[in-house]
Amino acid sequence: MSELDALATEIARCTKCLLHQGRTRTVPGEGRDDADVMFVGEAPGFYEDQQGRPFVGAAGKFLDELLDSIGLKRGDVFIANVIKCRPPGNRDPLPEEIAACKPYLDRQIALIQPKIIVTLGRFSMARAFPKARISQIHGQPRKVDGIIYYPMYHPAAALHQPSLRQTVVDDMRRIPQIIAQASHIAEFEPTPEAEQLKLF
Ligand code: URA
Repeated sequence: MSELDALATEIARCTKCLLHQGRTRTVPGEGRDDADVMFVGEAPGFYEDQQGRPFVGAAGKFLDELLDSIGLKRGDVFIANVIKCRPPGNRDPLPEEIAACKPYLDRQIALIQPKIIVTLGRFSMARAFPKARISQIHGQPRKVDGIIYYPMYHPAAALHQPSLRQTVVDDMRRIPQIIAQASHIAEFEPTPEAEQLKLF
């Protein structure tokens, strides 16, 4: 059993927050264990909870199209979420749920060692850029602890707000170029101006 599989087994037994009480299945994530590109969404929804797999609903269909637009398939990348159990009624994850689940995502990232982490939505973005606004930093790669973080809007946001769709498509299309130029991306340090503007 791979270390990622062993971690998924550990997640399946997790009772560190109350979400375990309402889950059908845990959704640890799936994909290549040595993927260059890792996508991190928010939380499982209804279908993900039923199937134990990430992004299998409408947002997942759009994510598949986005992957296809840059010549990738699910099996080429790793797809995970900030939290591994479905919040009731798909509400936003609570800070204590995110904190309880953080060690699992940390360990997944440490095992996979991706070149780029594409954060989907604000909860995922907040891991690297806690004060940022997604409208201000989406589509801008920055290195944090040697890994490129690339914030994107959540695919579901584009489904609810059609005006965002082209932005999501355009941000996705830049990923191959960002990977090719990875060594030129500077380590992130917020400037005082950016801090003041609450960009980060
Ligand atoms: N939305 C997410 O953020 N993650 C999923 O797995 C499905 C929908």
